[in-house]
Order: sequence, then C-alpha cells, then structure tokens
Amino acid sequence: TKIFVPSDTTALAMGADEVAARIEAQARKHGVEIELVRNGSRGLFWLEPMVEVETPAGRVAYGPVEEDDVEALFDAGLLNGGTEHPLSQGLTEEIPYLKKQQRLTFARAGITDPLSIDDYRAHDGFKGLENALKREPQAIVDEVKASGLRGRGGAAFPTGIKWQTVLNAPAEQKYIVCNADEGDSGTFADRLVMECDPYMLIEGMAIAGLAVGATQGYIYLRSEYPVAHRILNEAIARAEAAGYLGDNILGSGKRFDLEVRLGAGAYICGEETSLLESLEGKRGLVRAKPPLPAIVGLFGQPTVVNNVLSLAAVPFILDKGGEAYAEYGMGRSRGTLPLQLAGNVKRGGLIELAFGTTLRALMEDFGGGTFSGRALRAVQVGGPLGAYLPESQWDLPLDYEAFAAEGAVLGHGGVVMFDDTVDMAEQARFSMEFCTVESCGKCTPCRIGSTRGVEVIDRIRAGENRDANLELLTDLCETMVDGSLCAMGGMTPFPVQSVMKHFPEDLQR
Ligand code: NAI
Ligand code: SF4
Repeated sequence: TKIFVPSDTTALAMGADEVAARIEAQARKHGVEIELVRNGSRGLFWLEPMVEVETPAGRVAYGPVEEDDVEALFDAGLLNGGTEHPLSQGLTEEIPYLKKQQRLTFARAGITDPLSIDDYRAHDGFKGLENALKREPQAIVDEVKASGLRGRGGAAFPTGIKWQTVLNAPAEQKYIVCNADEGDSGTFADRLVMECDPYMLIEGMAIAGLAVGATQGYIYLRSEYPVAHRILNEAIARAEAAGYLGDNILGSGKRFDLEVRLGAGAYICGEETSLLESLEGKRGLVRAKPPLPAIVGLFGQPTVVNNVLSLAAVPFILDKGGEAYAEYGMGRSRGTLPLQLAGNVKRGGLIELAFGTTLRALMEDFGGGTFSGRALRAVQVGGPLGAYLPESQWDLPLDYEAFAAEGAVLGHGGVVMFDDTVDMAEQARFSMEFCTVESCGKCTPCRIGSTRGVEVIDRIRAGENRDANLELLTDLCETMVDGSLCAMGGMTPFPVQSVMKHFPEDLQR
C-alpha cells in the first residue's frame, strides 16, 4: 500500500514527521508492507498533516491527523481507504476545496514526490523544455506573449515583453534571476512551488534561458525557507545529473546552469534592483530605474528578473501552448492566480483560480468564513503594502484592472482576513511602522516619512488636534506615493489611505 505524508514546511510544522514515524511503526506492528511517500502539501492547510492512501478508486485523504490518531486510523481500515473514521475526507480529488480550483501551476503539487524526476516526467514534466529546445528564441518569447502571462510577483508586467527586451539586448552574458524572496505577509505560494514541485521552477528557468540567450540562472531565496533551500539544491543536482541542466541540455549543445543564493532577511531585497545588489554581494540598496534590469541588470548585464510563480507558469505554456493558458481569466488578466488565504480564516490554504472570481466567493466558499466565527470586517489583499478592503468591495472580481480602479492591488495573491475585533487604526500604524523597519533608507519620503507617519497616527489615536493631524496624514501619504523611489515607500500609504477612507470611525476613537 502506498501512503503519502507531506514533508513541506507547513505539514512539518503541524507534526507530519511524527505522524509518518507512527505510521511506519503501526505498519510494522500489523506486519504489513507499506510504501511511505513524502509528497508535498496539496495546499489544504487546515487538513495538515493530511495523510493519503492509494486505493483502486483513487487516493483517499485523512486529516488533520495527529500522532495519536494513527492507531485508531489503522483499526478503522486506513490501509484500504476506509471511510468510517471521523478524520476521513473521502477521495482527495472530490474534496470541494480542491475540486473547485483550476490548477495549472499547482497541478502536480501534493501528487508527486517532489524530488522524483520520474514522477515529474510521468506528469508532463520537462515537455515544455523539450519543445523549447526545438524552437528559435523568438518563437519561445512569442509563445509566452500569446499566453498573456503577467508578472506574478505583484507588478503584473507582461512577461513576454520583459523577455523580448532581454532577447533584443546585445550582450555576451545574460542572466535569469528568480525572485524567491517571498516577503509578503500571508503568502506562501512561492515556497509551495519550491517545496512541492521544484523541477517546474528549474524547467521554467531553463526555458527562460533558452528564450533570451542566458546561460546562467540564480534563485534568490529568502533565508527563512530552509526546507525549500535543501529541496532546491537536491533537485538542481539531480536535474544536472539527468541532463536537464548544464552545458549540453538533453544533447542539444545548449547550456544553462543554475545556483541558489540565500538572502539575509530584508524585505526590501524582494525589490528587484535591491535584490540584484544583494546578489552581487552588496547591501540591498534600491537602484534608480531606468536603466531597467532587462537592459542593465546583474553585474551590469541584461537580466530577466521574474517571480517564482511567473517562471513556474512557463512549462505549462510551452507544453500546452500560450493559447491554452490564455483561455483562462478575464480582461487583460489571463490564466490563473495562485491565491493564498490566511489570517483569521477557518480553512486557510492555496487556492489556484482563473482570474475573475470574487473575493467574497474566495473567503466564504473556500475559506468558510473566519476562524473565530465572528463577523468578517476587513481583508488585506496583496501583502503589507496592499489596501484593506471593506465589505462593499468584496464583490470585486479578482482582476488586476478591477482592483487598480479601486486603489487596491492583487499583488502576489496574498489574502489576509480580519474579524470585527480588529482595530484598523492599529493596522494603519503598523503599515507605517513596517516601512520604518524595512526602508532601505535611500530616499527621504520613505525613510523619514514613515517615521513621521507613525508619530502622526499616534497623535490621532491620542485625540490630539485630530482634524489637523488627519489632514497632515493625507498630505504625507500623497508625498510618499508621489516621491518615493520604489514601491516600498510608494505603496506603504495604500493601506493607510484605505483605513482613512473605509474605516474612518477607528481613527476617531
Ligand atoms: P514595476 O512596475 O516598476 O516593474 C515591473 C517589472 O517590469 C519590473 O521587473 C521592471 O523591471 C519590468 N519592466 C518595466 N518596464 C519594462 C520594459 N519596458 N521592458 C522590460 N521590463 C520592464 O514594479 P516593481 O517596483 O518591480 O514591483 C512593484 C510590485 O511588487 C508591487 O505591485 C507589489 O505588488 C509587488 N510586491 C511584491 C512582493 C512579494 O513578496 N512578492 C513584496 C512587495 C511588493
Ligand atoms: Fe529605499 Fe524606501 Fe526609497 Fe524604496 S522608497 S528606495 S525602500 S527609501
């Protein structure tokens, strides 16, 4: 019998190793042969550790399983996929949370053994790379353009156009840099890609290399992801040994090498130019743009800087075609967005959906409402620099343009829920405080403005000259938006302005 126990960070934090050990011990006790596979998470976090058993009808899931549940699960017929035990979730594929998703990027997550190349190949792995090897660089770039894919790190710049800029830039050496410094609050999609399906990222980067003529890639990984670090290094070594990386990819004579570099824990190093400085061994200070990294990037050379999710979408596009990807979505937001539901939520996790669903459907149908059971009051979308949305905006479709029209951002797809006990004035203060801590210090509106912002909000909350201070805060926010060099200072006012607009009563207490 094949039994699956995930080994990604979330499952491990919930005790997956202990559960796996207990399963092996029980199997020995019962004298049965089992094959224990350490898969990645399916992204149904409220069920972790989620144990699956292979049966002739498909995989059957149990969760959340604790160490001490294992004996009773065996007694209830776990090995045959028995559905008597209260932790039984029935057939995994039929769990509504999973069944209602459109998984293109996360199609393999939780199904395969993350480090098995055979498993990856058996589930369409490396087909995109094989197609790319048969094409001219321009044809690869055109396929990505046809998909309509836009940067999933948050800025939503068309990926194909970025690649075109790098392809057109003449240079001896070009680079592919993957931004894996996933720093937004409540986000974990990049980590799940790297821990659950690392070859997909490796394949996406190799395709990007072939497309623009870059022979060297770097994954800039945040240091807080030790499991992803180990898995990526192992996957890169195995991909090299199997001929998918190196100086003669699958006998084509084409070259692409890949290395992982660890960040050192600064939020600003997720900003692309600061990330490049850090990769070069310098302090993570933001560079002025232009020149764009696509023209003058790593070590002064033309460089593609893409988020993990953007690169992870590429193997599907080169395998099934750009049009197949573009069939999903609405308006100019094509394909799917891996959303990450967190905060005060009953059923948190990874939900990949075509653009166009509403926030309300996401939070209610998938999330099941708040964890506390209290009324939902506010939701922050797009990380710590994203706006707080009140109920009147929950029917907005998840679409870059629809959000922008309301002064909100989809960002990297992080959705953090708050119930009616939240103090929105405190949240506004937190945004400014976060910026004081994370600012790189290069420009005044951000470095000084955020500190003044904290002080002004404190005065408002203390009831000192409230009207004058609210006016001052309005001015300060405008100055930061208009005058900051990068998105850190430029977007910090978004959550603050959304509190002033939609939750003004909290600033009057
Ligand atoms: P941006 O709009 O300046 O640039 C977007 C991307 O397009 C960059 O890579 C830029 O170099 C490239 N680009 C622009 N014009 C180009 C051209 N003509 N040719 C080729 N490439 C071109 O946005 P920025 O400052 O890079 O990112 C801001 C976004 O980052 C925000 O919208 C925010 O949502 C997101 N963000 C994401 C975080 C995360 O953890 N994933 C954390 C914080 C912010
Ligand atoms: Fe640095 Fe802030 Fe200016 Fe960005 S906005 S360059 S983080 S000081």
